[in-house]
Amino acid sequence: MLILKTDPLNHKFNIAIFASGTGTNARKIIEHFINHNSVKIALVVSNKADAGVLQIAKEFRIPSLIIEKETFFRGNAYLNELHAAQINFIVLAGFLWKIPSALIAAYPNKIINIHPALLPKYGGKGMYGHFVHEAVIDSKEKESGITIHYVDDKYDHGNIIFQTTCPVLPNDTPDDLANRIHVLEHAHYPKIIEKCLSE
Ligand code: GRF
Repeated sequence: MLILKTDPLNHKFNIAIFASGTGTNARKIIEHFINHNSVKIALVVSNKADAGVLQIAKEFRIPSLIIEKETFFRGNAYLNELHAAQINFIVLAGFLWKIPSALIAAYPNKIINIHPALLPKYGGKGMYGHFVHEAVIDSKEKESGITIHYVDDKYDHGNIIFQTTCPVLPNDTPDDLANRIHVLEHAHYPKIIEKCLSE
């Protein structure tokens, strides 16, 4: 009798999460896909050896890769390592380096990012973390939100996939706004990733 074995670990999508910081979004994404049939978080990539996201990777036994500037920007952008892990989709979750064109060329329309404001406003070089929320509050905006977008070779610039809003309240500090926006990110990013993969 011929027994056909199906490999339960043979996932259609192997995602690499790139993150430089605490990794609360990375955690939500990992938890969302933990028992998924076709999607696996196969690698966590960070440019910071002490980033909190690396502890999360460890907790979930996900391989991690610490990258260096020279190889990322002037070498092969770690394409060999990404191919070895069979990565076919990249999710940026608080990754602070620009994505080099070699990586964009290797993963066309397969790299997405989340930005904690309503692009095209409050994006670009230097617009990250509390700088974004301070700028939104200083400009007396009544609302802010999140933007999930494809990554091209300009900061915070590629085609927008999804946006949703939240209010900016009169006495908000940047931390208050950051917390409200994190709630939105955690609720939406995993689902939007799943939607992108199914299209
Ligand atoms: C998020 O606010 C995201 O929009 C931005 O970086 C932050 C990462 O936060 N790109 P965390 O490390 O996932 O908590």
